[in-house]
Amino acid sequence: MENALNMDTVRLSEDKKSIVIVDQTLLPNECKYLSIRTAGEIWEAIYMLRVRGAPAIGVTGGFAYYLLADQLQTEDKAEFVKECIKNMEYINSSRPTAVNLSWALNRMHSLMLSRIEQLSIPEMKRLLLEESEAIRQEDIQICRSIGEHGFRLLEQLGKGVGIMTHCNAGSLATSKYGTALSPMYIALEHGWDGKKDMHVYCDETRPLLQGARLSAYEMQSAGIDTYVQCDNMASYTMKNKKVGIIFVGCDRVAANGDFANKIGTSGVAILARHYGIPFYVCAPSSTIDMTLHSGDEIRIEQRKPEEVTEMWYEKRMAPEGVGVVNPAFDVTDHSLVTGIITEKGIATAPFKEAFEKMGILPVTKYVDK
Ligand code: MRU
Repeated sequence: MENALNMDTVRLSEDKKSIVIVDQTLLPNECKYLSIRTAGEIWEAIYMLRVRGAPAIGVTGGFAYYLLADQLQTEDKAEFVKECIKNMEYINSSRPTAVNLSWALNRMHSLMLSRIEQLSIPEMKRLLLEESEAIRQEDIQICRSIGEHGFRLLEQLGKGVGIMTHCNAGSLATSKYGTALSPMYIALEHGWDGKKDMHVYCDETRPLLQGARLSAYEMQSAGIDTYVQCDNMASYTMKNKKVGIIFVGCDRVAANGDFANKIGTSGVAILARHYGIPFYVCAPSSTIDMTLHSGDEIRIEQRKPEEVTEMWYEKRMAPEGVGVVNPAFDVTDHSLVTGIITEKGIATAPFKEAFEKMGILPVTKYVDK
């Protein structure tokens, strides 16, 4: 079983002409790398969750911006800018909830606009290449820092701790380490015994099973004592005192600390409050969208009904014609959050003030306005 930490979730090819991703729809049974290069292929890979997880789709967005700009034949700067905007809007339309996608596209676009007067088109393409690689490198460092902060919380709870997580916010959802799973990778680096010192409970995460297929795979392949539970078993595990702390990732945090994460997360937070279990959200500061006052403003992706009624089953498991609810994310109220672990430290309520103290500010948006 290959350790997921050694897989490159998303990177540029050696010749810098395509993006190479692990096709996450095939895991855990098959580890296959895919090379994508056209706008259509990149859009499809994000929409189909071949590459998924907020930071990983952000990194993909940065690479997409560079790659599609690199493919432009024009020497005309106005034309170049126009095409970049068109590509950026198209890639951004692949998934709406994770802010990291628009964040990375906006970062690339701001840089391009700020230098277009001075640089030739070939020089601009080189600059965009460097910036997209920088986003990926930064993501690795950021995830490590989140893991270090989270590990300190595990140390306070002591060896033998039970940790619950929902969806997959691991190495596969980022460039490396992940956010919510990073503390456990860091614990191993600090000499914790994966079999004795921590026990990880992964919610299966209906309907797309990111918990069962990806988080459980990551934790098990790293040598950690790992359990999969159906989402509706979380209360049982918490009540039976198996869980000392909960770490989840997130796709977008509003200024007041409300956050969107994989559907089902808000239920986990409500249960955690009931059982008195600390509930932490792990987020790179780029996931914090200071332009939104509250979670009510976060757009929630709605996905196809077949993901609920047919996917994974041998035959359809709901009556033909029945209505189906399939939101990909839900919003958890900030009042249920113990802390938000970023690379800059752990923010606690009141969150807006805490974010501002960390220097997290609203960014200019060209897409996702
Ligand atoms: O639909 P997905 O699989 O992209 O959803 C992923 C999540 O909800 C993650 O928890 C979130 O993106 C954080 S990943 C570090």
